[in-house]
Amino acid sequence: MKVAVIPGDGIGVDVTREAVKVLRCVSGVGAFPFEPVFFPWSADHYLATGETIPAGAFEDLGRNYDAILLGALGDPRVPDMKHASDILLGARFQMDLYVNYRPIRCLDDRLCPLKDHRASAVDFVVFRENTEGAYVGMGGNFKKGTPDELAVQEDVATRKGVERILRHAFAFARRRPRRRLVMSDKSNAMRFVGDLWLRAFGEISADFPDVEATHLYIDTLCMQLVRDPGQFDVVVTSNMFGDIATDLGAALQGGLGMAASGNIHPGQTSLFEPVHGSAPKYAGTGRANPFGAILTAALMLEHLGREADARAIEGAVTNCVRERLCTADVGGTLSTQEAGDAVCGRLLAES
Ligand code: NAD
Ligand code: IPM
Ligand code: MN
Repeated sequence: MKVAVIPGDGIGVDVTREAVKVLRCVSGVGAFPFEPVFFPWSADHYLATGETIPAGAFEDLGRNYDAILLGALGDPRVPDMKHASDILLGARFQMDLYVNYRPIRCLDDRLCPLKDHRASAVDFVVFRENTEGAYVGMGGNFKKGTPDELAVQEDVATRKGVERILRHAFAFARRRPRRRLVMSDKSNAMRFVGDLWLRAFGEISADFPDVEATHLYIDTLCMQLVRDPGQFDVVVTSNMFGDIATDLGAALQGGLGMAASGNIHPGQTSLFEPVHGSAPKYAGTGRANPFGAILTAALMLEHLGREADARAIEGAVTNCVRERLCTADVGGTLSTQEAGDAVCGRLLAES
């Protein structure tokens, strides 16, 4: 298993170190080969060399690696996020990673922030369209810096792009016990894009009569996620709405430090990253929670067909959370590195 590792910036470096440590540990236990290959692409690298990511890198990653593991990108010294845009959005767009898979599961009642709700109420998956929407960078400005300045940024939906994420989400929902899917958009205000999404949703839901499919406006979805998260099984939405809804979802899991994600093109090299960013003020302090990154490594293993190893990591993280062998954001006293060690300790104890 050859994995391209891009630790990136800030706490991305701290948490990725622990995720790789856990992968080494689980590969030892499961006796499968794991070969991480590290890439320096980050704000430091960009500021030192002027290069964000070399030409041809995505082709190389796609051809020669089984998966990509990314920490986070973002640095106050690069205010326009040029490197993050080239590396992270570059990978999503150029490698056509159209499925952003974000499971939202709360591992312990203690982490559930909602009064009168238990962890078991928070167990759903968000599929975020990952290659179009408001992220494509179509637009421009005029008279910048003057009182007459104008800026336009387009929200782009293609029939092909919307259809493939909807089909992926429906097929996933069909394999779940509850078989419930919610499509969320803002078709009451964004009429053209909304109309395309709604029509595609109506047609594709007819192909999945065994899935209970409903529609919610994104504002209502956010409200319902807080009021009663237990009603949700699979949610599918556009790029930006998915970004926002999954930070809300992260809060339901115990915070950004617990949330994992995969940027997937089925059958091709895919990229796995925690949902959180580089949290610059925590970089190198030992305060970053590595569990989101470690659970991301589990998603990667699951994607590569190593289900049992993925479940073992999830089980070890769950036990650590329950025993408060974790960082302060989730109620423990451990450092980033100690929390990673605790997960390895659990894996070894249970092997
Ligand atoms: P952030 O996710 O980096 O941090 C927000 C807050 O969440 C932190 O201050 C901290 O309190 C908490 N947090 C996040 N991750 C944590 C962890 N592992 N352990 C403990 N607490 C954690 O979001 P931000 O501050 O809005 O963004 C910082 C930078 O990261 C920006 O440059 C942003 O653009 C970038 N960003 C990158 C990614 C990515 O690479 N995928 C994702 C989101 C944000
Ligand atoms: C995420 C991040 C990115 C996004 C940023 C860094 C561009 O917030 O992966 O959730 O908005 O997709
Ligand atoms: Mn985000």
